[in-house]
Amino acid sequence: MKLFEVYSLFDVEPVEADGALLFDRQGNKYLDFYGGHAVISIGHGHPHFVERITVQLGKLAFYSNSVPISLQKDLAHKMGEVSGYFNWNLFLCNSGAEANENAMKLASAHNGRDKVMAFTGGFHGRTSLAVAVTDNPNIVFPVNEGANIVRFNFEDFDGTKTALENGDICCVIIEGIQGVGGVVEPSTEFLSHLRVLCDETDTVLILDEVQSGYGRSGRFFAHQHSFVQPDIISIAKGMGNGFPVGGILIHPKLKAKAGMLGTTFGGNHLACAASLAVLEVIESEQLIKKVAQTGILFRKELESINEVKEVRGKGLMLGVEFDFPVAEMRKKMLYEQHVFTGSSSNKNTLRLLPPLNISEKEVHLCIEALKNVLA
Ligand SMILES: Cc1ncc(COP(=O)(O)O)c(C=O)c1O
Repeated sequence: MKLFEVYSLFDVEPVEADGALLFDRQGNKYLDFYGGHAVISIGHGHPHFVERITVQLGKLAFYSNSVPISLQKDLAHKMGEVSGYFNWNLFLCNSGAEANENAMKLASAHNGRDKVMAFTGGFHGRTSLAVAVTDNPNIVFPVNEGANIVRFNFEDFDGTKTALENGDICCVIIEGIQGVGGVVEPSTEFLSHLRVLCDETDTVLILDEVQSGYGRSGRFFAHQHSFVQPDIISIAKGMGNGFPVGGILIHPKLKAKAGMLGTTFGGNHLACAASLAVLEVIESEQLIKKVAQTGILFRKELESINEVKEVRGKGLMLGVEFDFPVAEMRKKMLYEQHVFTGSSSNKNTLRLLPPLNISEKEVHLCIEALKNVLA
């Protein structure tokens, strides 16, 4: 059997890693400023992460959601503490797309409606409703096309007001910071406007923090820069530092009913151990504070490069805009400078998403590499 070839691959295979470093089979060293699509939060092979998972593996790797799993309660408790959403509820699943599917399903169970408001440039995953709300016709197929979606630009105050005031929208789904769309942020005013209208019309406000969450922006969630509280928050990526896990944080006003959501693997023992390890490291190493500090330095250094037109984003979720496509530059960064970077749907935007505990020295190395390829 061969692989179903759906990915375009770089010609480097990392086989070992440590912190922000990746090593190929020949022992060549690479700096990871992409974290495999924003997944690596506490760094590759963090000792606490490895130990937590190894110990759990020796005890019990999996049993289904037909028995009590105390680790899930521990995780919910810790998540409440670290995120500040103390009295909310947690539903665990396996990926970002699945988190968003469950978020929208739960919204629909709450108000009985089926129309979803989504945004230009949004990315929410590749499963049925998640891909339908994603703004990329190339990954939507006829089987996904029946969904009832209305799409607006960020900052379209009038259009979103008129649509929401119709009273037939089930939920609004919006990223804390758009990642795949090119690191674009909704303004505080726009989020507040959506919050007010959602309250007036009993529409559920879903913040997709799959990429922008988990401390990446310099707050636990990117929307916490705005003080707007959503009704559901979807999470994945940085949550497991590479262990596949996702979830939704749910406002107490949304009520659970036995059987309404479910999954075989979601919230399994290993996933909980991995997720707990990540939160424990975020707390003990004060990573959110560190992200805010390192992010300021990184942005300043990026802005000092002549060819850089604009730096967008917050903390360690940065989009660097050039006035040319970045594809060639990314290849040079990888093959000549040994630095992994990311792209986005905006061809001129370089997306940088290093581990949250990246050192200042490593930031300077990335800046030097960028200057070298631009010289
Ligand atoms: C904001 C956002 N939501 C959802 C997803 C989908 O997550 P997953 O690939 O884990 O399904 C992604 C993935 O890039 C994302 O960036």
